[in-house]
Amino acid sequence: METHTNSVQDYLPFSPDQEVSTLLILGASGDLTGRLLLPGLARLVHHGRAQSLRLVGAGYDDWSDEQWSERVTQSFASAREVADDDGRAVLDLVRTTSVYRQIDVTAPGELANLIASLQGPVAVYFALPPAISEKACELLSPGDLPEDTRLVMEKPFGTDQGSAFQLNETLTRLVPEDHIHRVDHFLGKATVLNILGLRFANRLLEPVWNNLHIDRVEVVYDEALALEGRAGYYDGAGALRDMIQSHLLHAMAILAMESPVSLHERDLRDGLGAVLRASTVDPDFVTSTRRARYTAGTVDGRALPDYAAEDGVDPARGTETLAEITVSINNARWSGVPFILRSGKALAGNRKEALVTFKPVSHLPAGFSGQDSPTQLRIGFGPETLKLEIDVNGPGDVFALDRAVLEVELNASELLPYGEVLEGVLTGDPTLSVRGDTAEDCWRIVDPVLAAWAANEVPLDEYPAGSSGPVGWTG
Ligand code: BG6
Repeated sequence: METHTNSVQDYLPFSPDQEVSTLLILGASGDLTGRLLLPGLARLVHHGRAQSLRLVGAGYDDWSDEQWSERVTQSFASAREVADDDGRAVLDLVRTTSVYRQIDVTAPGELANLIASLQGPVAVYFALPPAISEKACELLSPGDLPEDTRLVMEKPFGTDQGSAFQLNETLTRLVPEDHIHRVDHFLGKATVLNILGLRFANRLLEPVWNNLHIDRVEVVYDEALALEGRAGYYDGAGALRDMIQSHLLHAMAILAMESPVSLHERDLRDGLGAVLRASTVDPDFVTSTRRARYTAGTVDGRALPDYAAEDGVDPARGTETLAEITVSINNARWSGVPFILRSGKALAGNRKEALVTFKPVSHLPAGFSGQDSPTQLRIGFGPETLKLEIDVNGPGDVFALDRAVLEVELNASELLPYGEVLEGVLTGDPTLSVRGDTAEDCWRIVDPVLAAWAANEVPLDEYPAGSSGPVGWTG
């Protein structure tokens, strides 16, 4: 059997135009840069996939080059440990040539001046709170940006459909759409992308991948992690905005899309966009959605207080830490099949998977005994696994049905999800970025749910931290 590497690069027939020379990270002293961006970049550099790159950090904090260099050193450390001599040499080169600039991106002219001083093409990564990124972009004009500048926007992209539309207007006034990278790191997850290979490179699944044969699809991302000091962001967001609004909707779209002509960005993103355009949540929100918030409990031996009592939380906001919505995809292939998307924090354990449940056979021959259960396919998003659960004849009585599981562990990508996303940014390939119209559509799907929740039309249930969810919720 041939092995495969799961490298996203293998999937992409994209030929880059001009590679980025400078990566400018705004919000360089922030948490996202240290925890995710720099380690993702380190993997890229160490694998020789970002060669002559100049890294510039910029932030509001008055840091020296030394402080910045210390941060880069720490974030590069684990990649450096496993790198060979060449890999270490390139990592050291990027680190030692990197500089830090103090900047207030909301002050007129400051960001434009900084960009003008850099070697182009430049990718400007806005690792900043959305309101600040928006303001910074509004202050730029097209003449401030050298040719081939790429703008990289972290999630959340806007706060609702209207603001996402406005932000798109601001950005497309500055650079063409294919130079805008709206980050959703789930599009850089190897297992999410593996769904493409699984579906479209095998004859087995596609003929049954529709409402004639599939009963329901669940996309679940339950985390044991709780608030982890992120109240400032999370309490204003909640589980629906944080996880479902873009990450799980995109995973769903990959599961549901039509076979694209190619994996070129236009074909792939057209396919994803078509699914999301066809998606709605039934307006009977008490039936089609659920929300809950954790109370005190213990997760992995760690005692947690009530969410409402966590530092920085405003209990009056009623922020949910567990959300579930049932999406209908209104097209011929999926009409009638519920897509149930669920994600929450402080749950009993991590359960991160897509679960496809098939319908029962149209006729089970009389004479079988034992349990007849539906065929299920589980695509694990971490650990990366693929499991097919089927009924076969049991070992004792040959006519008794028994469950068998075919299971394989998939290779993780050699790049972290942020490495995959950054590779697209640096090579000018927007395939793994969310397209502007799709970003607006994701909000169009969840906005009515958020409005109903804000109006308290759906009860806010409770579950003890460390449990599998509220009593009465299944799964
Ligand atoms: C982030 C969310 O986008 O995704 C976090 O803000 C969440 O709350 C994380 O924990 C999950 O993704 P991953 O790849 O870290 O498992």
